[in-house]
Amino acid sequence: MLTTTDLTVEKINSLLKTAEEFAQGNTLKAADEIYVSNLFFEDSTRTKTSFDIAQRRLGLNVVPFDVTSSSVNKGESLYDTVRTLESLGINLAVIRHGKDKYYEELKDVKLALINGGDGSGNHPTQTILDLMTIHQEFGKFKGLKVGIVGDVKHSRVANSNAEALRKMGAKVYFSGPEKWFDEGTIINGTYLPIDDLVKEVDVLMLLRIQHERHGEKMKISLESYHKKFGLTLDREKAMKKEAIIMHPAPINRGVEIADELVESVRSRIFKQMENGVYARMAILKEALEEKGFKFK
Ligand code: CP
Repeated sequence: MLTTTDLTVEKINSLLKTAEEFAQGNTLKAADEIYVSNLFFEDSTRTKTSFDIAQRRLGLNVVPFDVTSSSVNKGESLYDTVRTLESLGINLAVIRHGKDKYYEELKDVKLALINGGDGSGNHPTQTILDLMTIHQEFGKFKGLKVGIVGDVKHSRVANSNAEALRKMGAKVYFSGPEKWFDEGTIINGTYLPIDDLVKEVDVLMLLRIQHERHGEKMKISLESYHKKFGLTLDREKAMKKEAIIMHPAPINRGVEIADELVESVRSRIFKQMENGVYARMAILKEALEEKGFKFK
């Protein structure tokens, strides 16, 4: 699982079904001795920890890999690092890397690869947990209106989610500072001013401001961002009765979203994190089964 482009509608539905079964209490354990490792070249709390928990729940052997104390620091390439782990007996690697499409240099490796996020490219496992959260709420995607708001240009979540949601039949709208959008890319004529967007959508998906990917030209004052583009208390009041708020986190409280709304009745932000474990159990199971491993 490297991009959402690779995922068919059937595959997404299958992952959502398996993830929901895990959420309902279904348990499965690896029938084989399987070794997995999580290689995070960029920081993570949710993705790394939820993969670790998902792997342990499936009875996989998790082999720690700490980039900061590895031979990456002696200049070893990503390809040689992954080939080394493969030679040592690792069957599956989850990789997060700052470089867009880092996985292209790994196309000759044999172990199962799961993309835990590549630069501003893709975050397909976040997409599955986000779709799971939306499906739990509405039971469908077709006809739903989803608003993605914020740093779309630098967000791998926006890229992956917009593509998958459209594939599943949802209508996707965007909002945020125009200098953070690339003309003619995923926006495709669906930009709405934030005050119009909040009234229109069933799902309001806020994005973190990716300070670490901003040059001088992209910088914006955080206070003015909240007033001009954030989910303020007034904008929340204008949302549809049943509409929900999502955010992949980490959250800049008081910037993308008013502090009081993070844990409000509409918010599914912590539900998304909980679903991350079940979605990643489903993804791990299917990725390993494709390599011939069995679960019971
Ligand atoms: N949503 C997400 O990817 O969070 P982390 O960066 O903490 O993994």
